[in-house]
Amino acid sequence: MNNKHLQLHAQSINHPETFWAQAADAIDWYSTWDSILDDRQAPFYHWFAGGKLNTCYNAVDRHVAAGRGEQVALQYVSPVTDCEYGITYRELLAQVSRLAGYMDSIGVKKGDRVVIYMPMVPETAFAMLACARIGAIHSVVFGGFAANELATRIDDAKPKLVLSASCGIEPSGVVPYKPLLDAALLQANHKVEHCIILNRSQCEATLQANRDIDWQTAVATAPDIDCVAVESTDPLYILYTSGTTGQPKGVVRDNGGHAVALAWSMKHIYDISAGDSFWAASDVGWVVGHSYIVYGPLLVGATSVLYEGKPVGTPDPGAFWRTIAKYKVKSFFTAPTAIRAIKRDDPDGLFLQGVDLTCLENLFLAGERCDPDTLHWAEQQLQKRVIDHWWQTETGWPVAANLMGYAPVAVKPGSPALAVPGYQIDIVDVMGEKVAVNETGNVVIKLPLPPGTLTTLWQNEQRYQDSYLSMYPGYYLTGDAGYKDEQGYLYIMSRIDDIINVAGHRLSTGRFEEVLCQHDAVAEAAVIGVKDNLKGQVPLGLVVLKKGINLSDDELNQQLMTLVRREIGPVASFRLVSAVQKLPKTRSGKILRGTMRNIADNQDYNVPATIEDPATLDIVRNTLTRMGYADAHV
Ligand code: COA
Ligand code: AMP
Repeated sequence: MNNKHLQLHAQSINHPETFWAQAADAIDWYSTWDSILDDRQAPFYHWFAGGKLNTCYNAVDRHVAAGRGEQVALQYVSPVTDCEYGITYRELLAQVSRLAGYMDSIGVKKGDRVVIYMPMVPETAFAMLACARIGAIHSVVFGGFAANELATRIDDAKPKLVLSASCGIEPSGVVPYKPLLDAALLQANHKVEHCIILNRSQCEATLQANRDIDWQTAVATAPDIDCVAVESTDPLYILYTSGTTGQPKGVVRDNGGHAVALAWSMKHIYDISAGDSFWAASDVGWVVGHSYIVYGPLLVGATSVLYEGKPVGTPDPGAFWRTIAKYKVKSFFTAPTAIRAIKRDDPDGLFLQGVDLTCLENLFLAGERCDPDTLHWAEQQLQKRVIDHWWQTETGWPVAANLMGYAPVAVKPGSPALAVPGYQIDIVDVMGEKVAVNETGNVVIKLPLPPGTLTTLWQNEQRYQDSYLSMYPGYYLTGDAGYKDEQGYLYIMSRIDDIINVAGHRLSTGRFEEVLCQHDAVAEAAVIGVKDNLKGQVPLGLVVLKKGINLSDDELNQQLMTLVRREIGPVASFRLVSAVQKLPKTRSGKILRGTMRNIADNQDYNVPATIEDPATLDIVRNTLTRMGYADAHV
């Protein structure tokens, strides 16, 4: 057992202010803080309160000033458009300061919100950094969400400006974004003043007079603008994530704590320093993209690969390996589902043959539980260290990990290793009592959370407290269940709420149910996540129909799938749905989703004493069996 990890962790918990003050040296500040941790408004904590900085300055300008201007900052690799080019720090500075200059010229100021609905192109990173430069708060919405989801986020964030593109490119073809944006803007109550649209050659967008401007036209004559100093505690971005209701939660990230924590994590966890090449194969619409495609690598002066493509099919399961070799990637980060996809298409690793991966030191996996099979397969094929690590949109950076840049510990398959310095993780029962070693309970983190974690939910402090802080006063509720072994290794096993994880994408079953109930034929709906060999989980819906509905099963299912795709988006991957006569419920009317999930996945379950009608479990089991789940003989 590596004591260095534990010693560093103990220092961070016993002397957090000294620990994080030292880490803050990696960041350039315009003026230093009044207090490292301001706890006067606990449970709302403020890191580096009174300090002033600019995140864009730290991610871009200072590297040019330090002589890294000619180093590639962003390496764009787009197999779906057959295009690859590098953007140096100097070029990045020019692009970002001009875009920021245009934004400023149309009245976007510090504190204004800006929504970014874009595909995986370098301009998306320019947009984020341009916001940071002028102190505007960006909110990136993942391109796989439908117009309705975009409208909900626009109404919550109330942006002055939206940046978007004419299209994204998926293996299925060109996905026009502009019609989705137009529909969202029509639907939203909040009126957006300006849109900047990146026209891509694959699809031309129609611009609306007096509202939309073409990206190139906008930046052509815009003045460069310098960075503004913001408070450490000012929000840098809002990132919406699924909660248990249909209304997404707007996770708020500050500037100072975020910059300090990400810079620390790049070195200590990912072993990446200035000049190294790093690749997180995710999407900027998710937290992984925010932290480890854009901000983390750029804050430390590394080169970040920005990849527009999939692990397989664009064009083959060797695409990741060739990209790593070509751009000398030292640490690579993806989701286990991506590795499962490659394993499915290339089980014997034929596409690895002849690819020189000597540059690669570590493969990091997160976003969902990494099953030991996937871990072993990757280890064997790559002959590299494969590191599972655990975190969430809310925390913004890893909570449990192996510190590959500081003091690696032995890998235990199925575990994301140990608590990262700054995080004090406990496993508790429903009463808040710590459970024994190897016993499963709710995973909680003692307050205060370290720098870089969420400070609140956008314009909803009450929901922040209700969702995360009220169940166990003094602790943050992660929403995950798991256990720790005798060496303190953590094992994350499942969610304790109605969130499901589909191909590393976090989705709310409550939202699916809301959408299904919009259908005229549906009286009631229950959605559960069932096991899937590729995506980890996929959503499965059971609906009870209103009386007198005259639709064939096929017609109904097709309509429901189309509805979910239209309302939530293709990312929902909703392909399993069936009508049932009745749903299993308790006598107080609570739908027994957990029991249904266990039946579907062939897990043991107890029939709750409070069940209203035990026969409903047979109805559900028979339906699930017909759908290819729930072994009828269990
Ligand atoms: N814009 C528009 N549509 C998008 C999109 C985007 N940015 N991202 C995904 N979609 C669409 C896909 O085209 C697909 O549509 P389809 O139903 O018409 O085929 C649908 O959303 C589901 O996409 P996806 O989840 O990517 O599933 P897939 O079956 O196409 O691919 C994997 C499966 C495993 C290859 C893929 O999920 C993957 O690469 N996962 C990596 C996970 C990841 O990066 N997670 C982020 C957290 S680390
Ligand atoms: P997101 O906020 O989309 O990043 O999703 C976070 C959730 O994904 C966590 O709360 C976990 O449920 C799950 N998750 C992420 N990484 C891991 C991991 N390494 N092991 C187990 N679950 C994980």
